[in-house]
Amino acid sequence: MTAIATINDVFQLVKAELEEAEAAYSQYLQTNVSLIPKISEHIILSGGKRLRPVLLILTMRMLGGQPGAGTTMAAVIEFIHTATLLHDDVVDDADMRRGLAAANTIWGNEASVLVGDFLFSTSFDLAVDQGNLKILKALSSATRKLAEGEILELMKTADINTTRQDYLDIIEGKTAILMAIAAEIGALLAGVEDERQQQMKAFGLHLGMAFQMIDDVLDYTSREESLGKAIGIDLEEGKLTLPLIHTLDKASPEEREKLREIILADYVSQEDFAYVYRLINKHEGIDFTLREARRHIDAAKQIIAAYPDSPYREALNFLADYIRQRDR
Ligand code: FPP
Ligand code: MG
Repeated sequence: MTAIATINDVFQLVKAELEEAEAAYSQYLQTNVSLIPKISEHIILSGGKRLRPVLLILTMRMLGGQPGAGTTMAAVIEFIHTATLLHDDVVDDADMRRGLAAANTIWGNEASVLVGDFLFSTSFDLAVDQGNLKILKALSSATRKLAEGEILELMKTADINTTRQDYLDIIEGKTAILMAIAAEIGALLAGVEDERQQQMKAFGLHLGMAFQMIDDVLDYTSREESLGKAIGIDLEEGKLTLPLIHTLDKASPEEREKLREIILADYVSQEDFAYVYRLINKHEGIDFTLREARRHIDAAKQIIAAYPDSPYREALNFLADYIRQRDR
């Protein structure tokens, strides 16, 4: 049996299918409106990890789906993901994405939003061609939740009373849902019954929750060069993520007051960031968040542990650990 020892082994296992999906990205982006491929390719070909397509294909293959059957839906999921990134960088006024200038800084907000709309519409156009209403329903409910999560995040900006539950609702919407349906669609394409479909959805959801928690930790602990985007941005933008929410819970009234001032300020100085970072460490906000992420990873692994051993299951297991340990 193939041994999966590195993330590269995971990609190798579904290499042919991923290559097919890569070809599909370019094919589906063909249009006479030249700005569309220009912006789309800038972001799609900028070294994304392709986690969602990999998740979809591995899940489908683990459940007995045929090679190639997931190509279009892999492209659909990656397009939706890309559309949300284009929109997100406008909403967040981001400068950098994946180590490159964010599309909005090169072509402006209008173009970024509109090309995001094009990718989003293309996704549904392609998904309809699958002729599977269950897939369409999964996709449409998921994108609705996605937008909901992002709007909730907007509403909670700089709100120091943001609760853990608010945070969980936000990250479930903005990140975990898309991973959940990547795995669920894998199951639907393999034609498994409802129970296994729901299990795969839960598997993807746990991975997604952990993924965003790690992302939120990295925003405090990483370095810009390794992350490919600026760090300390969540605080700057007034985004309260779990390390900080946990810290606010544990903080003394004085610490809380100082945190409130920093969170509400338009500009976060290096000194302020250092203060917040020290406090987060003091109250173990990073460790707490990492433990929560681990709980999700363990729950995900538990789900697939009940499935027959196969290289695909092994790869999914590896992917779960990879998400927990990732540093970029
Ligand atoms: C990234 O969070 C957030 C997302 C990828 C979700 C964005 C969703 C939307 C803008 C709304 C829905 C749009 C469509 C087309 C349905 P982050 O800002 O914490 O992560 P980052 O650090 O990578 O930017
Ligand atoms: Mg963002």
